[in-house]
Amino acid sequence: MDTHALIDYALQRYSPREVAMALGVDARTVRRWHTRESDPPPYVSDAIRQRLLPLQGLENDAPADFTFIDLFAGIGGMRIAFEKQGGRCVFTSEWDAYARKTYAANFHDGPNHVFAGDITTVHEKDVPDHDVLLAGFPCQPFSIAGVSKKNALGRPHGFADKTQGTLFFDVARIIAEKRPKAFLLENVKNLVSHDKGRTFATITDVLRNELGYHVMTKVINGKHFVPQHRERIIIVGFRDYVGFDWNDLKLPDFEAAPKLSSILHKQDGTDPSEWNFLEGANGRVSAAYTLSDKLWAYLQNYATKHREKGNGFGFGLVTAKDTARTLSARYYKDGSEILISQGSKKNPRRLTPRECARLMGFDDSFRIPVSDTRSYKQFGNSVVVPVIAEVARVMAPFIKAESTVPGKRAKKAA
Ligand SMILES: C[S@@+](CC[C@H](N)C(=O)[O-])C[C@H]1O[C@@H](n2cnc3c(N)ncnc32)[C@H](O)[C@@H]1O
Repeated sequence: MDTHALIDYALQRYSPREVAMALGVDARTVRRWHTRESDPPPYVSDAIRQRLLPLQGLENDAPADFTFIDLFAGIGGMRIAFEKQGGRCVFTSEWDAYARKTYAANFHDGPNHVFAGDITTVHEKDVPDHDVLLAGFPCQPFSIAGVSKKNALGRPHGFADKTQGTLFFDVARIIAEKRPKAFLLENVKNLVSHDKGRTFATITDVLRNELGYHVMTKVINGKHFVPQHRERIIIVGFRDYVGFDWNDLKLPDFEAAPKLSSILHKQDGTDPSEWNFLEGANGRVSAAYTLSDKLWAYLQNYATKHREKGNGFGFGLVTAKDTARTLSARYYKDGSEILISQGSKKNPRRLTPRECARLMGFDDSFRIPVSDTRSYKQFGNSVVVPVIAEVARVMAPFIKAESTVPGKRAKKAA
């Protein structure tokens, strides 16, 4: 494909602005190349292949040890963890157009993989057979008040009655139909205490008693692996009784855990150059990430006001020696939860999207093809990859022991 054709191809997947961002030019230049008003320089061809397009010949239809599906996939943090264990993703659902872009730029699927949008519109019978179901379902609170009313009326109820109208219902109906060997669900720690514990009780009750799975739950802090305090509830279920034991997880001591120095740009020219985050020969973090005087003054005043009222809210100013607070999906707004100190003479700065990726345990090879705002949201919504990878490592032997991969071992139970 010549360079013009590559640009046309990239524009079928990304907006001119996104292509421009990835190539380090402005959107007008991309449009001019697209309309053939001007010719792109030779480097553009390689840059498009490397930064924007799926790698040819790496379609993920190779033989695998087990199959899985990736629901509420976001940018595929869970997928990375299960691919490391030899799994192949056969179905993905994610409805957000920008998350889909990041996902498509990083995972290379062949014709046997389905990339669905809104899961509520997918019939469970249309989901392919799989060994493991993965879902970081959004914590969409739901009340179970209706259930007790139904109880009082003596009406029968099942998971459909208890959870219909929530996204957990979509996870449950797929498990009910496909009966995967195992599942892993991830959510915020607050799910456990939401509605005085009733929401979590309903979820585990449905998984155990309505669906008949052996369910184990654990709150894990990402701080074991990355310099970020991030507690998440992990719910693991097996269709059959297996010897899965949380004690087999290897969680490095907090004392030995990496500090922010491990994820911050080195700014000495040794970091891989990324034009949109770094500038100059030494790869200094772009000035755009330093807070304006106005925003910095606002955050300081806000923190003082709340301190006076006895509230703990405020910004989180950290140095390379510290551990960050939880990166949230709203980081793009003011970055206040994680501000990197730049000494007393300079305002603090936000993390760059690449630093956010590292803070969530994504390798530097992970492509970031969307704007900063979108990528902050995507990393803030994602998982700490090494946490899921460690759970996947302990789950893997039980998943591989009985697989639904065609040509592998026994078939799944009816
Ligand atoms: C908490 S995030 C999960 C992120 C994911 N674990 C990752 O590593 O990036 C939840 C995701 O579910 C997606 N989502 C919400 N409702 C959906 C629906 N009805 N169908 C498909 N995706 C949905 C959101 O766009 C969001 O990306």
